[in-house]
Amino acid sequence: MTVETAAPLHVALIMDGNGRWASQRGLPRAAGHRAGVQALKRTVEGAADCGVGCLTVFGFSTENWRRPAEEVSDLMGLVRSYVVSDLKRLTKAGVRLKVLGRRQGLPADIADIIRRAEADTAHNDRFLLQVAFNYGAQADIADAARTLAEAGRPIDENALSQALSTGEGPPVDVIVRTSGERRLSNFLLWEAAYAELVFQDVLWPDYGPEPLRRAVEEFRARDRRYGGLPDTPATRVAV
Ligand code: FPP
Repeated sequence: MTVETAAPLHVALIMDGNGRWASQRGLPRAAGHRAGVQALKRTVEGAADCGVGCLTVFGFSTENWRRPAEEVSDLMGLVRSYVVSDLKRLTKAGVRLKVLGRRQGLPADIADIIRRAEADTAHNDRFLLQVAFNYGAQADIADAARTLAEAGRPIDENALSQALSTGEGPPVDVIVRTSGERRLSNFLLWEAAYAELVFQDVLWPDYGPEPLRRAVEEFRARDRRYGGLPDTPATRVAV
């Protein structure tokens, strides 16, 4: 085990490639999603050792409702069983689970499972796992603006950041997309403002601690400037 000294990172993951993984093996897409859940478990388990303190994963987007009913129902079933079967383990490992996205439109039992899992893990502070489910970044930004407007509060960058469903968590350091696709697909658009983007040619069901470690290494090699200049002796301002 390596000892990480830098501050824990917030890594957001677009878990892409389940369908291709399954079709490469002549399996139904559902088998790819099931293998995707195993990859998620491995990744969460190994994340702290990679220097990660918060993971945000894209489980189901507001656009995923357009998929065939059978696939939508498979994904609903997986989130049900993932949350229920993993809750004890997550709690024991000090993981706080938070689900991002609209509850409205979710089957009532799933909304209930989510509510209970969030309440049961609310006191955990070793690791934050945020699962975006029925989530779309544009809808999240619109909802945040509406909440502020209805409360009669001024809408500025700070207030909006806090009103987003990610508002309680740490800022996103890096957004990783697997499977070789290079787009954000309506995931964390506001939060991406100063995040680094990493694209990996791994199909999600093959993911785990090792590819995560490579993504973190790639992130650490980047020079983050937040619109400023590189921190070199030539650009440092004398005080
Ligand atoms: C993208 O693969 C993946 C998804 C739409 C869903 C991700 C879901 C999981 C990993 C299952 C577990 C989820 C939770 C929330 C526990 P794709 O189907 O778009 O793959 P393709 O692009 O190869 O077709």
